[in-house]
Amino acid sequence: MRQIALNLLVPGMKLGKTVYGPNGETYLNAGVILNQRYINRLSARGYSSVYVEDRLLDGVEVDDVIRQETRVKAISGVRSILKDAKSNKRGIISQAAVTRTVNGILDELLDNPLAMVNLVDIRSRDDYLFGHCVNVCVLAVMTGITLGFRRDRLLTLGTGALLHDVGKVRVPPEILDKPEKLSAEEFEVVKKHTIYGRDILRQEDQEIAAIAYSHHERYNGEGYPEQAKHPGIKLFSQIVGVVDIFDAITSDRCYKNADHPRVALELLAGTGNWWFDAKVVNAFMENVAAYPTGTFIQINTGEVGIVMDTPKGQPFFPNVRILLDREYRIVKPYDFSTLSNGCGVNCVLDDITVTEMLKAEPKMGTP
Ligand SMILES: [Fe+2]
Repeated sequence: MRQIALNLLVPGMKLGKTVYGPNGETYLNAGVILNQRYINRLSARGYSSVYVEDRLLDGVEVDDVIRQETRVKAISGVRSILKDAKSNKRGIISQAAVTRTVNGILDELLDNPLAMVNLVDIRSRDDYLFGHCVNVCVLAVMTGITLGFRRDRLLTLGTGALLHDVGKVRVPPEILDKPEKLSAEEFEVVKKHTIYGRDILRQEDQEIAAIAYSHHERYNGEGYPEQAKHPGIKLFSQIVGVVDIFDAITSDRCYKNADHPRVALELLAGTGNWWFDAKVVNAFMENVAAYPTGTFIQINTGEVGIVMDTPKGQPFFPNVRILLDREYRIVKPYDFSTLSNGCGVNCVLDDITVTEMLKAEPKMGTP
C-alpha cells in the first residue's frame, strides 16, 4: 500500500485505506475499486492524496501509530470541544472529554514503543484544524515518551498539545482560512490566538494554558507573543512548537500543498539550539520516517527502490525494496537496509519518473 497524489489516480486502482470525512463519517471504504466518479468526488471534497494497494509493496502494511478508530474519535472530540469553546463566552471546555481523548491516545502510544510515524494523516484541506490538533497531540506525546516523561506528565503534555490552538476559535474565520498571503495586520490578529488560548485555558490548568501561550516562542527570541528566549521557554511549549511546524509543513492547507516529511525533517534538523533546544528536536526526529513507506527513492549507490519501513531512531535510513539497478535496469526485487550497508538516500523520485523507468511493467500501481 502506498500514498498517491489524486492527480495520479486512475480508474481500476484499489483504495488501501478508508477515507473519512470531517466528522468521522466514511467517504470511501478500503478495498473499493476506484472509478472516475469516486476520484472526482475525492477531489471536490478537498483531498489531495489517498492510499492505494500496490503490488510492489505486497505484504507491507502502512500502520498508523494509533488505531484509525481512535484518531477519528479524537478528531470529532476536538471538533466538539472547540465548538463548545467558541459558543461559550467564557470559553469553558469539557475537561473530562479532553482527558478521555488524550488518555485513549496515550494508552496506544505507550503500548507501541517502537512505532515510527510512517503514515501521512490524510485529511481534506477544509478539515485542517481538528486533524492538526490530534496530530500535534500524537507527535508531542511520542516525543515526550522518547524524553522519558512519566505518564502523568505525558497527560499534561498531550492535553496542552491537543488544545494548543484553542485560541483560534476567537480569530475570524475569514482570516484563519484566507487562501492568500495575510497582510501584516491580519497576521497580528492570528498571533493573538496564543493569548486567547491562555485566557480560555487558565481557568482549567496553568501549565496547559502556558503551552497554548508559548508554543510559538523560539529559543533565539524570534517567536511570539513575548519574544521569550532560551532558557525562558518551557520544555512542553518547545515540544509542541516542533511538532506543530512538522505537521503544518506536511499538511495540505488552503494556501499550499503538503511538503514531503523529508523536507520538514531537514528543516527541523537545522533548528536545534536556534529555534528549539536541540534535545527536543532530536527526540522528535527519532519518531518520524523521513521517507514514509511507499516512497520511491534512489540510494546513493544509484539503485532505485521503494521504502518498506524505517528503523526507530534512524529517520533517514529506510529499508528499501530495490527495483532498478544503477543503470536503471529492472532487477528481481530484493530488500536492502541502507543503515547496515552504510548508504544514504540520494533523492526522492516521483511516481511519474518511476512509472517511466518501469514502463516494461505497465500495471504498476494497480492491484
Ligand atoms: Fe498555533
